[in-house]
Amino acid sequence: MISGPRHFAALAARLQWDPDAIDLASDVEPWHRLEPGLRRRLTILLAGFCVAEHHVADELGPFEPAAPDPGMAAVFGAQRADERRHARLFDRIAALFLSAPGRDARSRRRFVRGLAPAPVLDLFEQRLVRAAWALADDPSRLAEGVSLYHLVLEGVVLTAGQQALLAELGDDRLPHLRHGIELVERDERWHVGFGLRCMLDLCPEPETIATLLREGELAVDAWGATVPAAIRSRVAAQHRRRLAAFGLLPAGEAHVAAGPAG
Ligand SMILES: [Fe+2]
Ligand SMILES: [Fe+2]
Repeated sequence: MISGPRHFAALAARLQWDPDAIDLASDVEPWHRLEPGLRRRLTILLAGFCVAEHHVADELGPFEPAAPDPGMAAVFGAQRADERRHARLFDRIAALFLSAPGRDARSRRRFVRGLAPAPVLDLFEQRLVRAAWALADDPSRLAEGVSLYHLVLEGVVLTAGQQALLAELGDDRLPHLRHGIELVERDERWHVGFGLRCMLDLCPEPETIATLLREGELAVDAWGATVPAAIRSRVAAQHRRRLAAFGLLPAGEAHVAAGPAG
């Protein structure tokens, strides 16, 4: 069974890192020597992350006061610190690799959003923002918020994007950039695990689970062909398996999802 808030708080405290300490500048010259097709795919993914990480850092605000106990609230707070760190890393990436002009993160983000896929922008700038407002108005909607934020956006969209980035960076021509993505991915793994823990504690309505299942299966395509089909189908299967393994799927759906939870 998945661990409680104390476990996640301890993990968060142990997995600290400094986004300004990663020597990204050393990878800028090899970045410009990449094949144009590879550089274009990486650009789309990195631009999407730049927008997404800014929004997840911002929109996590209403989750902490909506938590039913101080332990869960503290973990949302620790997660928000992670998301701010991720947003900072991707802002540096925007400036160094995506040639985003501007003196501040907001203007760099305005530039890179023009490079990101429209469905990714829609999910993080519209869908997530609406869910965060709904949660701020009505804290009883926390399970809906967690299912979208932790299990669809982090567990599916960002997971698919991270797997594609790590596959593209696998030859180690950009080792510092790869290292930064690995650190983000390590944090996101506990965020998704924490989301599952919250769902178990919050006992969501069947409609919330049905929406979670359906939105996750659709959201895996948000990056389009930039994420290879094999990664998309692996992440979609992992989404369903994860919900089945934690008893979140209705009995009629659970048998379809065989195998271990990811
Ligand atoms: Fe993040
Ligand atoms: Fe996260």
